[in-house]
Amino acid sequence: MSLPTRRALLAAPALALAAAAPAAPGLQARASRHGRFYGSALNVDALAADPALLVHIRQECGILVGEYSFKWAELEPQPGVFDYAKAEELMAFAARSGLRMRGHTLIWHEAMPQWLQEQLSPATGETLMRRYIGTVAGHFRGRLAHWDVVNEPMHPEDGPPFGLRDTPWLRALGPGYLDLAFHSCAEADPGALRVLNEFGIDYAIDWQERRRVKLLELLAHLRAHGVPVQAVGMQAHLDAAERALDQKVLERFVADLAGLGLKVIVTELDVRDDGLPADIAVRDAAVAAHARAWLDAVLPNPAVLGVLTWGLSDRHSWLDARFPRRDGLPQRPLPLDAQLRRKPLWAAIAASLEQPPAP
Ligand code: XIL
Repeated sequence: MSLPTRRALLAAPALALAAAAPAAPGLQARASRHGRFYGSALNVDALAADPALLVHIRQECGILVGEYSFKWAELEPQPGVFDYAKAEELMAFAARSGLRMRGHTLIWHEAMPQWLQEQLSPATGETLMRRYIGTVAGHFRGRLAHWDVVNEPMHPEDGPPFGLRDTPWLRALGPGYLDLAFHSCAEADPGALRVLNEFGIDYAIDWQERRRVKLLELLAHLRAHGVPVQAVGMQAHLDAAERALDQKVLERFVADLAGLGLKVIVTELDVRDDGLPADIAVRDAAVAAHARAWLDAVLPNPAVLGVLTWGLSDRHSWLDARFPRRDGLPQRPLPLDAQLRRKPLWAAIAASLEQPPAP
């Protein structure tokens, strides 16, 4: 069977899309019953290369986030040379599909262009950060639902105050880099919800407990000093082989975030399955049960606005490159399988989203 050409799809989009779309309501429809959203990361390459995936993106999602296209290395590859082409392709797809977009991410110690790593210093840091956030958040002003203003700032083992990670930004500006980032974003695009996004806060294990404690201390300090952080992104890169999933710990953590007046977004959910049996039915059931337990602890809190997975289908996941299974089999970390069929993980997310939040 040959795939329809891109032009054929463009010529008759409604027909082509309707024919392939699954009938039962998607995850966004389920999330919106309680005023929440469901969405996914999307790689810009999929726009041209994978029309079948796009059908399912429209069916399941209410919001998208670029997997790479909104990172600094993409947006300002050379100093002062801004390139929004890929980000705008995603924006256009979202707009014509009726989907919202999140921005990910303004300040991160990864995906920094080479020139920035060379230029960033105590002398240049403030100007570089103000100019970048002002330009980029200004460019998208009014068009993004959220910005991940600072990504992955925590690493208590490094030693700086508040459990902050020792990054080029920390070295240039000290802990005040967070204040500057959130204030700059608030100025440039006041309507986008300002998020601090973090990983490794999911399990009842020592190093993650330290991260939760330090993150809460940091956020309390930022809030007390008028830093306009409004939400925390829990990335939720889960590991189905991890036994230390303690729902009470998660509930407490989300309640503590809410107690600081913060909203919570599950920003990058996926479930690694290395260590689980190769058998697909067994694996899929374990992945689904694991995610269900995590979500059922987090989602009842009304501070939680919604859930995004880091991709929609197992055909595109960063995990096989980053954390491959020891037996070399492809992982099954996302709601749809590689043939775009709904998996037990899809049902787990749907069921958890459908439960009403606590009053
Ligand atoms: C990852 C992308 O999925 C990869 O394609 C890219 O090579 C590196 O970044 N936490 C984040 C995301 O906040 O930006 C990362 O995305 C995954 C971990």
